[in-house]
Amino acid sequence: MKRADVDGVVSLAFEEYYNGPMDFSAGIRGGFAVLESAWRSALRNGKFQEADKERLTDWLEMIWLRIMIQWGFSMREQFGKGGRDHRVFCISDEKARNLGGDGEGGSSKPPLAALAEISLQVPNGKTSPPFPVPLWYKRIVGWPGPVLPYISNVLVHRNARRQGLANRLMLRCEKQARDWGFTQVYLHVDLTYYPAVRMYETMGYEVVSDLEVSFENPRLRYMKKIL
Ligand SMILES: CC(C)(COP(=O)(O)OP(=O)(O)OC[C@H]1O[C@@H](n2cnc3c(N)ncnc32)[C@H](O)[C@@H]1OP(=O)(O)O)[C@@H](O)C(=O)NCCC(=O)NCCS
Repeated sequence: MKRADVDGVVSLAFEEYYNGPMDFSAGIRGGFAVLESAWRSALRNGKFQEADKERLTDWLEMIWLRIMIQWGFSMREQFGKGGRDHRVFCISDEKARNLGGDGEGGSSKPPLAALAEISLQVPNGKTSPPFPVPLWYKRIVGWPGPVLPYISNVLVHRNARRQGLANRLMLRCEKQARDWGFTQVYLHVDLTYYPAVRMYETMGYEVVSDLEVSFENPRLRYMKKIL
């Protein structure tokens, strides 16, 4: 991922992870509109209405998620420069079409079609932190064990699925793991999402353990592949 790719990666990740009711394209101005109408109705009725409070909370949550994703990928781009322990690979929409996509680009498509990330992490079964963490810190946390390659954020835009893009990115990540000198790679998969489960199984990933069921992670499986 280059500096110029960050915005496209952020849009792709945001589209995948945000499932709230607000429309991000309204942006900051949309937030002010929500605030203004809440304020007007509070002046009329003497107090803030529950529905207005809910809309404001939805808007703040949406903006907060966007900021976190933007911040996270900007940091990844910085960490990835050395390429020592963190890389983000992406495929542009144009390249996706050259690789044999449907050719129906159109202005509704984002500038990026797919992304996947590989980093060195402590293989303790836990998901990786949302932000890149310095290698020396991970080594201390994992000591005396090793830090090993971990694939995450494998995302393909809805319009670009079933064209082999995720497969290509996974193979690229696995090559990176080998280039770093490793013979194994780890990842997590949400068991409720069949396409991802199927993909990892067909690519030779084996179950290491199933994570405890929690509100945030309804069914997460930790997997490993020997390269
Ligand atoms: C899972 C995901 C990354 C697959 O991307 P993709 O580019 O469509 O996948 P590919 O075309 O490279 O397909 C690779 C393999 O995955 C499996 N697969 C992908 N989509 C599938 C589907 N809808 N049903 C069944 N199997 C599917 C197949 O085994 C496929 O190989 P095949 O085409 O030879 O049968 C994509 O659906 C996605 O972004 N989902 C949302 C995010 C997500 O869940 N990511 C995984 C995080 S754990």
